[in-house]
Amino acid sequence: MSKYSLVIHGGSGTILKENMSDEVEAAYLKGLADALNAGFIELENGKTATHAVKKALMLLEDNILFNAGRGSVFTKNGLHEMDAAIMDGSNLAAGAVAAVQNIRNPVSLAEKVMLKSDHVFLCREGAMEFAKTVNEKIEPDDYFFSQFRYDQWQSVKDIGITALDHDILLTENKFGTVGAVACDKQGNIAAATSTGGMTNKQYNRIGDSPLIGCGTYANNSTCAISCTGHGEPFIRAVAAYDVSCLMEYKGLSLMEAMNIVVHHKLVKIKGEGGMIG
Ligand code: GLY
Repeated sequence: MSKYSLVIHGGSGTILKENMSDEVEAAYLKGLADALNAGFIELENGKTATHAVKKALMLLEDNILFNAGRGSVFTKNGLHEMDAAIMDGSNLAAGAVAAVQNIRNPVSLAEKVMLKSDHVFLCREGAMEFAKTVNEKIEPDDYFFSQFRYDQWQSVKDIGITALDHDILLTENKFGTVGAVACDKQGNIAAATSTGGMTNKQYNRIGDSPLIGCGTYANNSTCAISCTGHGEPFIRAVAAYDVSCLMEYKGLSLMEAMNIVVHHKLVKIKGEGGMIG
């Protein structure tokens, strides 16, 4: 039996202590701890890495503080469109959904695309129609409403900018995209990422999170990666797969490969964000 592990993220960005009340900080930390514990219990019980990353992300998607699922940001036309992906490093199976609305847990739908469809990547109405056939939980629009996300959208909507939620100078809302990577007792690894994307994004804009190899990637022979940050540079850098390639073709360690991608390659194209591996 190999060692097992789970790593999660709740988005990138710096939150200054003075910009956050103790109460809000405690709520974020509890949200992260609950998700980490829930995923880790899956691993302790002998479940797969894929199960663990999905479980952790479902809790974060249900938590209105994070920009994924329920807490997703507003698009330019005042809707919520979510992206998610999951990948099983043991067999390179993957599932992803993009620009879906009203889906309670996009990561669960992505897993069903992986397990129950002939496809890897579904978007918009096709994904939503598929969601109904696999009994995915659907929620009304108001489930996804939160005043602080609405205020974030209002603060940028008329000046025509698109923003990661942690770019917006509101004090309590800097976390973003959520992600998880895991290694189970069998030594198999998996990655998953889920997001509401960027505030005031063009509707139907798709970020890096659901794009296999960009924001999400897992391969037992190298690594499992989940990214967060400004999606467009991560897409252009094929960031997650590049880490895997540097390990596979150049023999670098995970840390060396992530450092090159995040601190050098992404910086050169003004890519801001980070990744877990
Ligand atoms: N990294 C999340 C996004 O850009 O949509």
